[in-house]
Amino acid sequence: MSFLASTTHLHITTWVVALILFFIAAVSAKKLTGVQMALRGVYILMIITGGALFMEHRETVALANNGSGMLYDMKVLFGILVIGFMEMILARKNKGKSVNIFWILFAIVLLVTLYLGLSGGIGFNLF
Ligand code: HEM
Repeated sequence: MSFLASTTHLHITTWVVALILFFIAAVSAKKLTGVQMALRGVYILMIITGGALFMEHRETVALANNGSGMLYDMKVLFGILVIGFMEMILARKNKGKSVNIFWILFAIVLLVTLYLGLSGGIGFNLF
């Protein structure tokens, strides 16, 4: 499965598509069932591509950091939390419940995920 982890482009594509679908569903006045179903499909691709990167590179990154791969593990955890908050926002919005606090938490976990990804040691390294 090395084609999944040879570059980070596939993974980046999946989360960019997911964010676009999520924002479309989140700002729409009505429930967009089709978009939300497509979004769930993209979550799976995101987890598969992220999981492939994790399995391929975790050990190397840990060795380069005095044996600690904790930030790499946190990247996966935060990536999954982003998915959780997207689902939470859409579910609450569809029920007409307030979503303000979830938008703030979503923004924080998204920023942390981007930071951890872009400082992870492979692909793009901005930090
Ligand atoms: C919306 C959710 C997510 C966002 C915004 C995101 C963002 C990113 C970014 C910006 C990178 C760096 C790419 C590069 O350096 O070229 C990355 C890499 C990575 N992602 Fe995600 N990701 C998300 C979800 C996930 C999930 C669900 C997983 C695990 C199942 C995951 C696992 C990984 C791994 C292991 C890497 C490699 C880290 C590195 O060394 O740079 N991500 N992700």
